[in-house]
Amino acid sequence: MKVTVVGAGNVGATCADVLAYREIANEIVLLDIKEGFAEGKALDIWQTSPINQYDSRVIGSTNDYSKTKDSDVVVITSGLPRKPGMSRDDLIATNAGIVKTVTENIVLHSPNAIIIVVSNPLDVMTYCAYLNAKIDPNKVFGMAGVLDTARYRAFLATELNVSPKDIQAVLMGGHGDTMVPLPRYTTVAGIPVTELIEEEKLNEIIERTKFGGGEIVKLLGTSAWYAPGAAAAQMVEAIVRDQRRIFPVCAWLQGEYGFSNIYLGVPVILGKNGIEKIIELDLNQEEKVLLAESVEAVKSVMDVLDAMNANA
Ligand code: LAC
Repeated sequence: MKVTVVGAGNVGATCADVLAYREIANEIVLLDIKEGFAEGKALDIWQTSPINQYDSRVIGSTNDYSKTKDSDVVVITSGLPRKPGMSRDDLIATNAGIVKTVTENIVLHSPNAIIIVVSNPLDVMTYCAYLNAKIDPNKVFGMAGVLDTARYRAFLATELNVSPKDIQAVLMGGHGDTMVPLPRYTTVAGIPVTELIEEEKLNEIIERTKFGGGEIVKLLGTSAWYAPGAAAAQMVEAIVRDQRRIFPVCAWLQGEYGFSNIYLGVPVILGKNGIEKIIELDLNQEEKVLLAESVEAVKSVMDVLDAMNANA
């Protein structure tokens, strides 16, 4: 299996590192526009192979897409990260141009690749990749829910003082402050989370999750990378190993949950064909209202992109 990661910044390099040491792909190409940068990161990662005991090959490339030829999966992380005070949406103009160019080049060299978008604003950059890739939407989707549920699960593990492995959760909606963690679908080793935690505490954790990315931007002055990189790698693994894992993924909706022509976080089955199936949960009224609010937020940013494209 060959996997390309575009963008050798913190998220892309972390993703490539996880893909390598966990031997998720035997060939990993890291590509960046900055001269020598991807080669440097790839060389550093490859030099961990004798220490971490793996034989996945990692190579770097400065914008030479011929090296990415016939990739099975491509992860797009390119674009500017957030600075303190910025929302993910503030990045739209710059990152849309970058994601468009990257997607066109990827599809040219790997027409059958499955594309995972990680660039922000996530839902809209995934839409941007879809518009430019012109391939089946089941093969173009975004990484957000795996990261956002990981944050939610990690916070719960800390609060309950139990292993994060035992915490299962679904979270829906856009990758922004309107995301919708679903306590009704959150369990701890099969036990409904509501039996183990007070409502007020759970609500605090939900709020913290919604702003989980921003919390790190405030602390670091730039956005997170360990969890985003690992989350993208876990999605790649589900695909290349055809695991049929159920993850919240930013997927193109065509009537599911009553919404169409929008990229939104929903639970899906991920396997060798990309999105094998979108799972439709029977949401209650309160959950539906929260999801509708998230849809509005995502749609408003999609409209900005559509207007930019109309004027281009
Ligand atoms: C975050 C960025 C990567 O949520 O969107 O940390």
